[in-house]
Amino acid sequence: MMKIGAVIVAAGRGERAGGGVPKQYRALAGSSVLHRSVHALLHHDRIMGIIVVVNPDDRDHLTAVEQALGQTLTTVAGGATRTASVRAGLDAAQAAGFDAVLIHDAARPFVSPALLDRLTDALAEHSAVIPALPIADALFRGDEAGMTMGDPVSRDGLYAAQTPQAFHLAPLLAAYDRLGDTALPDDAAVIRAAGGTVALMTGEADNFKLTTPADFARAERMLMPDAITVTGQGFDVHRLEAADSMWLCGIEIREGLGLVGHSDADAGLHALTDAILGAAGAGDIGQHFPPSDPQWKGAASDAFLLHALKLLAEAGGRIVHADLTLIAERPRIGPYRDAMRARVAALLDLPQARVNIKATTTEKLGFTGRGEGLAAQAIITARLS
Ligand code: CTP
Ligand code: MG
Repeated sequence: MMKIGAVIVAAGRGERAGGGVPKQYRALAGSSVLHRSVHALLHHDRIMGIIVVVNPDDRDHLTAVEQALGQTLTTVAGGATRTASVRAGLDAAQAAGFDAVLIHDAARPFVSPALLDRLTDALAEHSAVIPALPIADALFRGDEAGMTMGDPVSRDGLYAAQTPQAFHLAPLLAAYDRLGDTALPDDAAVIRAAGGTVALMTGEADNFKLTTPADFARAERMLMPDAITVTGQGFDVHRLEAADSMWLCGIEIREGLGLVGHSDADAGLHALTDAILGAAGAGDIGQHFPPSDPQWKGAASDAFLLHALKLLAEAGGRIVHADLTLIAERPRIGPYRDAMRARVAALLDLPQARVNIKATTTEKLGFTGRGEGLAAQAIITARLS
């Protein structure tokens, strides 16, 4: 009987999806995309082993996936293109003694057992077979700037390719050998470039590739159809004093001003933490981290925020957006805004596009106007299942 293995390519950077981490490591309703794609293939009775092609920079993310799966994965380092990553996976597949492989994008977590059955069955008849769907939309070219419509393109006979793509290993390796340095979009194209034949089978609409932020929103809706949207708001103030530096929104600002407080007094992260607790229905920051408790003295506020996120996750919630307003005459926020946004997005595990940081003065009025303190307001939007 043919020994069938799988290669999951997960070494890309996910640039079109945005976000602080490569898309295959982003969470979808509690489990990462890679976790879901590995899980889909792991327990299929015809698949004897899985090789995951990863970027060595993602070691920590990978460890988290392995912990969540409760097992270590066989991994190899990928390359700069998908073609290079698959090549690395195929070498490992050969070393593992597989006769045939299913090559799958980590970014397609919704592949069904039925599609895997059909693909593995088809390997008895075909040396290369892929799932594909006919194009439904009308097609046309755009002008160079993509502003106006150009000539129509007939959709007759046009298909969109999916993965897993299934191959007998020997002819696939031979086709990759003939390819040289060229990079092609997928493995079926490599077979075709070598003059081979690729059989088609009907793909599945739900087996779409997570490419853009909108694809992530669609995936969330699929996984959490009954989720409701909740919001939480938070507000915090700390006194300003002369000091070497302050922490604000998780970054250090060295402008001769500091914030006074029991912890690191990061009013931005405190307002966010309270907003998260609000969305989770979990009280306020003082209840969870009493100022009277010495363990929080000088604490980095990241810890408060991460704890609040954990409580929200336990309540079945997941943040989708954060909006923060900082109110102060000084320091000027503008020069730090991008760094703050990046830091907050990383802490919340959100794409930067889903984090907004605003700043305002109060026209020299009140305590903020007099420069006695700095205030922060946050609103968190979350999906609750
Ligand atoms: N991939 C890979 N190695 C690369 C490029 C892509 O292993 N050098 C993988 C991706 O991790 C993904 C699959 O190939 O699972 C399909 O690629 P794509 O959707 O283009 O993902 P990315 O390249 O990560 O995304 P982007 O092109 O938006 O940066
Ligand atoms: Mg890519």
